[in-house]
Amino acid sequence: MIRQASLAGARYDFSGRVAVVSGGMGGLGQAITKCLMDAGASVAVWDARADLTQAAGALAYPPERISLHKVDITDEAAVVAAAKETVSKFGHIDTLVNNAGILGPVVDTWEHTAEQFRRVLDVNLVGAFICIRVLVPWLMKNASGPWRARIVNVASIQGKEGMPQASAYAASKAGLIALTKTLGKELADSGILVNAITPAAVMTDMSLEITQERMQSILARIPMGRFLLSEEVAAQVMWLCSADCSFATGAVFDLSGGRATY
Ligand SMILES: NC(=O)c1ccc[n+]([C@@H]2O[C@H](COP(=O)([O-])OP(=O)(O)OC[C@H]3O[C@@H](n4cnc5c(N)ncnc54)[C@H](O)[C@@H]3O)[C@@H](O)[C@H]2O)c1
Repeated sequence: MIRQASLAGARYDFSGRVAVVSGGMGGLGQAITKCLMDAGASVAVWDARADLTQAAGALAYPPERISLHKVDITDEAAVVAAAKETVSKFGHIDTLVNNAGILGPVVDTWEHTAEQFRRVLDVNLVGAFICIRVLVPWLMKNASGPWRARIVNVASIQGKEGMPQASAYAASKAGLIALTKTLGKELADSGILVNAITPAAVMTDMSLEITQERMQSILARIPMGRFLLSEEVAAQVMWLCSADCSFATGAVFDLSGGRATY
């Protein structure tokens, strides 16, 4: 029985590229940021973490290739300001990884308050939309470069399959999938490729919000019999941002260890 990841460590040259990673100091965000930085890209981390500077400081990235922006992506004015600061530091933006997200309450659908339900949709779906709305004009300026421009939306397998006691989260991610498919069609001949990934469970801070019992039941749904690694998510994002991904847009890439049924 094989229950270990076997990443080959594909190498990309992203020198000269500039990526925005929302939630870039969370569990998956840090792995994505690291891969982009290791490949030579400059990265603007847009994250609401209160301890953003300390968290990034511990990672010792070259200061000339990283910029940190404490921003709530549901606040359009703050996103516009972060975009201006990013372009002012790096000159352009060619990549957006919409990764920021929250889980919300783990309760039955009818036990959510409307306010709780709205907040999950606001961060996971409307926040991603705001980043897209603000950045597409910037991405368009770079869409004729060798790698074109890229948007990768981090959805979830729960957006395809649903999940008891996570209806706001699952609905927000289903919305993000639909947004990806629509935007991919709208931008298909613009040079901006738009794709989504649908990871299964990864052990990050988000997973710590879930009880051990629930994590075990999530694990039991994954035919590969293990949790996904943040490095595996980052590897998929890197390929989607690379020139090797050239004919996929409006697509949804599963990282579900076999859980996805369609
Ligand atoms: N961990 C998993 O099992 C899993 C599985 C599938 C999909 N995902 C998705 O992956 C993405 C990253 O999740 P993670 O596991 O790294 O979680 P995480 O909690 O470790 O990181 C989430 C990051 O998003 C930031 N964030 C939250 N709300 C924000 C806001 N309004 N504005 C800006 N930043 C905000 C947080 O500060 C944090 O740094 C999320 O979209 C999540 O839904 C996670």
